[in-house]
Amino acid sequence: MKHLLKMMDLSTEEITEILNLADQLKYELKHGIPHNHLAGKTLGMIFEKASTRTRVSFETGMYQLGGNALFLSSSELQIGRGEPVQDTARVLSRYIDGIMIRTFAQEEVENLAEYGDIPIINGLTDLSHPCQVLADLMTIREYKNKLDGLKMCYIGDGNNMANSLTVGCLKMGMDVTLACPEGYYPAQSTLDFAKQFPNFKIVNDPVEAAKDADVLFTDVWASMGQESEAEKRRIAFKGYQINDEVMAVAKPDAMVQHCLPAHREEEITTKVFEQHAKEIFDEAENRLHAQKAVMVLLMGEKD
Ligand code: CP
Ligand code: NVA
Repeated sequence: MKHLLKMMDLSTEEITEILNLADQLKYELKHGIPHNHLAGKTLGMIFEKASTRTRVSFETGMYQLGGNALFLSSSELQIGRGEPVQDTARVLSRYIDGIMIRTFAQEEVENLAEYGDIPIINGLTDLSHPCQVLADLMTIREYKNKLDGLKMCYIGDGNNMANSLTVGCLKMGMDVTLACPEGYYPAQSTLDFAKQFPNFKIVNDPVEAAKDADVLFTDVWASMGQESEAEKRRIAFKGYQINDEVMAVAKPDAMVQHCLPAHREEEITTKVFEQHAKEIFDEAENRLHAQKAVMVLLMGEKD
């Protein structure tokens, strides 16, 4: 593994290796066991979109690993004035040891990886959000002690979360059912990958999708960059919500996950959100541990 660009690039074994190391790093942090595997290393974090969790968890994670993180807002970099990402990659490769980037086009992340010679980590694009999904898989495994054979249901927009969750969960042997409105299905590349799996299904009815689910996911109806479509989307997504009706057909011990930020009473009711708040904030915490594992594997000294 040289980069973390999208879930599609990771094998089942690589995902398992990341999750195992994430569990170990979480244990070490909680027990005060030093784990400064990245002493003297610097991560550059390029943000072209807003962030709370991604920024703070990467920055804190790097600090806990003994390294440094630089927050690089695209509006203050020359990228914001048109310097090509290919040149930025080659320059930053001379100074720092890894780049985390949050941007719009997946192509930009792939370009950084092609032109730079340091590890690139995708901190969210319009197509994918692999760091989030690694934290999600870690959290499900913590609660259920396994992934293989569990039934996952995702209700809502076929967005970056739907793409990465579908690929990640299928790779880990889970059953995946998505409930998306017509016209808001995941990317064609996701559908092409998923159709090889008999345990993948996409339907229009959230209640049908939630039947016997072990874990339910949802995400915002309008993602970052889609603000102008918010009104149109509010109409298209009406009813694509995790609520009592959906929870009633899931397994009695089903867990709920949300990458956050959440829009209460849109994709999830306040009631269900608060009933499952512990799981959702454990999920947010696990961003820290999962990303530390990714950074150690990509940026640490190889044996
Ligand atoms: N879930 C997530 O990526 O959160 P931020 O947008 O706050 O980073
Ligand atoms: N789909 C959301 C996820 C935010 C973490 C977005 O792209 O805005």
